Amino acid sequence: QNDLRTALLEINKEAARYYYYQLSQKGGQAAHDYLTGRALTEETIRRFGLGYSTMYRDDLYRYLKKKGYSDGQLKESGLVTYDEKQGPHDKFWNRVMFPIMDVNHRVIGFGGRVMGDAKPKYLNSPETRIFDKSRNLYGLDIAKSSRKPSLLICEGYMDVIAMHQAGFTNAVASLGTALTTQHASLLKRYTQQVLLVYDSDGAGVKAAMRAIPMLKEAGLTAKVLNLRPYKDPDEFMKNLGPEAFQERIDQAQNSFMFELSVMENEYDMDSPEGKTAFYRAAAEKLLEFSEEIERNNYIEAVAKKYPVGYENLRRLVNQMGLSK
Ligand code: CTP
Ligand code: MN
Ligand code: MN
Ligand code: MN
Ligand code: MN
Repeated sequence: QNDLRTALLEINKEAARYYYYQLSQKGGQAAHDYLTGRALTEETIRRFGLGYSTMYRDDLYRYLKKKGYSDGQLKESGLVTYDEKQGPHDKFWNRVMFPIMDVNHRVIGFGGRVMGDAKPKYLNSPETRIFDKSRNLYGLDIAKSSRKPSLLICEGYMDVIAMHQAGFTNAVASLGTALTTQHASLLKRYTQQVLLVYDSDGAGVKAAMRAIPMLKEAGLTAKVLNLRPYKDPDEFMKNLGPEAFQERIDQAQNSFMFELSVMENEYDMDSPEGKTAFYRAAAEKLLEFSEEIERNNYIEAVAKKYPVGYENLRRLVNQMGLSK
């Protein structure tokens, strides 16, 4: 069983080398142009080991067979699929390849992106004996030694890469799966504070709302960065650059105030009933702070942002606390 793990790590490493090599070949020209078209430098391509899976449906399969790996091992790697009619063929075909590394910088899987708008946009390695999506974070192998006060969590490959290229080498991504409690405890090994840099669409807000309690549970403090009017960190960086991004980091909202502003949208703030209901919900949430000083600081912050007096809100919080 350990032999299988070792073989799978070797297979993934060989595949990463192979894809990387193909990117430099004539057949990989379009893929290379795609990456430079997305503003990636040669150095970034090398640092992240980006590559290209060719047009041929079993190129990698034949390459790895020649290296001596068995059909059984290749099947377990998830890089080759076995079709009854068509026989073995590569999982990734004509895609830009992103090797996924574990914290020890070992290749454990891949993401592959189409170069146009075909669907699915990304294909990912299936979970294997060495690849557990819920326990690995893309970019953490580099980010863990970035020596910054926090880690930046985003959604995608290109987001991580764009941030690293811009000097924010503390960025990681959870890759298409929601953040898990295992991710949170993994993060806790390397930092005290995380900044959520999810896409600025509804899905990104939802993902942040789900992640915050998990991060808190793991003992991390969380802040949320506002990317608007841009969709994701990659687009933000391309349009406004690193200095503007640093400003957004400095202005990031603490997770409580973020949650509150999302809650606010559920109430009709133009009606007295709506406002009252919102302040009750806010008071309810403020009660979660068990320490009085901390709670009062947040009451103050809420009273500063919303048209409710500090004393009024504090009284409401105390009342609701007593009736528990
Ligand atoms: N994702 C995936 N499969 C898909 C779509 C997305 O695995 N069909 C994952 C990828 O890891 C992707 C992340 O979810 O990077 C975020 O998705 P999305 O915002 O749609 O893609 P971007 O990262 O913005 O991709 P790009 O900038 O290359 O268009
Ligand atoms: Mn899992
Ligand atoms: Mn998205
Ligand atoms: Mn994007
Ligand atoms: Mn995106």
